[in-house]
Amino acid sequence: MKQNVTFFIFLLLSLGAIAQNKTFVVGVNRPGAAVSPTMYGVFFEDINMGADGGIYAELVKNRSFEFFKPLMGWKVEQHNFREGAVLVLNRKEKNTANPRFLQITLDHNSKEDLSLTNEGFRGMGIKKGLRYDFSFLYATAAPGIKLYVELLDRDNKIMGATTVTLSASGTVWKKRAVSFVATQTEEKGRLRISFEGDGKIDLDMISLFPSDTWKGRKGGMRADMVQLLADMKPGFIRFPGGCIVEGFDLSQRYQWKKTIGPVEERQLIINRWNFEFPQRAAPDYFQTFGLGFFEYFQLAEDIGAEPLPILNCGMACQFNSAELVPLDQLDPYIQDALDLIEFANGPATSKWGKIRADMGHPQPFHLKMMGVGNENWGPQYLARLRLFQKAIKARYPEFKIIASSGTDPDGKRFEYLNDSLRKLKVDFIDEHYYRPPQWFFSNAARYDQYPRTQTKVFAGEYASHPKVAPEKKNNWLAALSEAAFLTGLERNADVVGMASYAPLFAHVDGWQWAPDLIWVDNLNVFGTPDYYVQKLFSLNKGTKIIPLTMDHKPVTGQDSLYASAVWDEPAKELVIKVVNALPKTQTVALSLEGLKKQRITGKVTRLQSDDLYRTNSIKTPRAVYPVETQLELSGKQPALQLAPYSFNIIRIPY
Ligand code: AHR
Repeated sequence: MKQNVTFFIFLLLSLGAIAQNKTFVVGVNRPGAAVSPTMYGVFFEDINMGADGGIYAELVKNRSFEFFKPLMGWKVEQHNFREGAVLVLNRKEKNTANPRFLQITLDHNSKEDLSLTNEGFRGMGIKKGLRYDFSFLYATAAPGIKLYVELLDRDNKIMGATTVTLSASGTVWKKRAVSFVATQTEEKGRLRISFEGDGKIDLDMISLFPSDTWKGRKGGMRADMVQLLADMKPGFIRFPGGCIVEGFDLSQRYQWKKTIGPVEERQLIINRWNFEFPQRAAPDYFQTFGLGFFEYFQLAEDIGAEPLPILNCGMACQFNSAELVPLDQLDPYIQDALDLIEFANGPATSKWGKIRADMGHPQPFHLKMMGVGNENWGPQYLARLRLFQKAIKARYPEFKIIASSGTDPDGKRFEYLNDSLRKLKVDFIDEHYYRPPQWFFSNAARYDQYPRTQTKVFAGEYASHPKVAPEKKNNWLAALSEAAFLTGLERNADVVGMASYAPLFAHVDGWQWAPDLIWVDNLNVFGTPDYYVQKLFSLNKGTKIIPLTMDHKPVTGQDSLYASAVWDEPAKELVIKVVNALPKTQTVALSLEGLKKQRITGKVTRLQSDDLYRTNSIKTPRAVYPVETQLELSGKQPALQLAPYSFNIIRIPY
């Protein structure tokens, strides 16, 4: 594998030897098309334990006993074994969304007799001095039952505890909540509940949340993970997938209506990434929907991103069952789309707007766009898309529709869809590219010749996949190639209206797919080099394209240089982005058209590593990290020094 990269570098080097006296001519006085405020966004999918076990801060796995194996994640320990002391009951005739619960029979139990221990999602991340909120639903006829709630470290030492006594509730389910403080930090903690008393107790929704969630919301999200998103100032957030929108079959598709309202009423389903890759199987991966559509909209609002939901178009994943809804039975799917717009935007007096208001958000979420289908293709897709388009545009003419162009950015399937979708005048075509770094370098000019029509491109999922054993890594080569490619998107911001890297999150102990933008364990989070590329593009997106050429041509790989420029109107700054993909410093003269002065000052932010294989990690989160320096250029032809293998953002007040 390494040989491939060496050969590639050699090629770049030979190209680099050809040209000299490089000058970037920047048409500062000729601003072009606008850069959309939504240009750089993020794509969230519950893959790699991105939601459950990730950003959704619930620490108890299988809290409602609805996994295929009802006690998965739980360990039952009895010191005086009694048959039937722990039973799984199913009330599905009364409660289809959350049928199972646990019934525990206590026979003059003392604390030592019976306990349930939850292992968490690859352990529980516990922080010393932090308050933890424990809660559960229960029903019991016996008064005085006592629960001992304890956090255990990896050596079974207690590191935080509380007791809960219960009054009789009869057959009525009640919620009980209690908080306590952890005395130790532990990445692989567990939760043990022991019981004391006499009688029976029914239990459900056993839950533990840290109190340091994003915005301190109870039952909320991991603040450290959301913070990294907020820091990017993403223009939009695409959710909830990805393939999980499609489902293995239609029964497992993502249905947003089942993800709103009280969490105990949200019906869990298997996560398709549970079994999709046998080599990375995750038998305990389910979607509890504690993070549902209301929370996605709220997250978008919190971080200032436009919400971009993707809905199932009546097709299951075409790599799996490829089930289709007959066209004459598509109405409920289309209705879901129309109802979602009402849920997000409708007045609190409307049916779906009221549900949003009851959940605590009377104001609208200002939803403006929606994806119909994820990676769907073929005439069967077009037939379904047309019906969605007709119904949505009839009711909401300004609403933007994003259509899929399949799984690949080229080939017959892509060409057929690209052509047909343009004829259909969809607002955005969603292109996906998971390709090797070489593809990203050599496609920096991909959009230079694209048609300039009302149909724009949405680069909805992309990532450079270097071939590094044993798994594809987020190394500097991958990130550098993405930066080179993104200069091409920026130069063509009149064609490409939105772009998002994929997937967003991965847990170091629970991932299925790599590379990914942000990695976490139970206590830590770090951005990959790719993350910093995305962040730098987003924070420096500017407002208008500025022409930038070398020898009268856009800079798309000549001398292994890739460049673009924008004007940042509010900041009154010219922003130049340059990638030097050679292992040596390159000098480039800067000619700013119309600028008389010989002295250029400003700021350079540089992301650089001499080692293309360098990665960030939990232990070394900043091995590749942006460094800011002052820029001061003078002389007849002010020149930039571009470090080996570097991505540079140059901001010049103008
Ligand atoms: O991002 C991982 C998967 O890649 C997405 O679910 C799918 O859309 C794509 O194939």
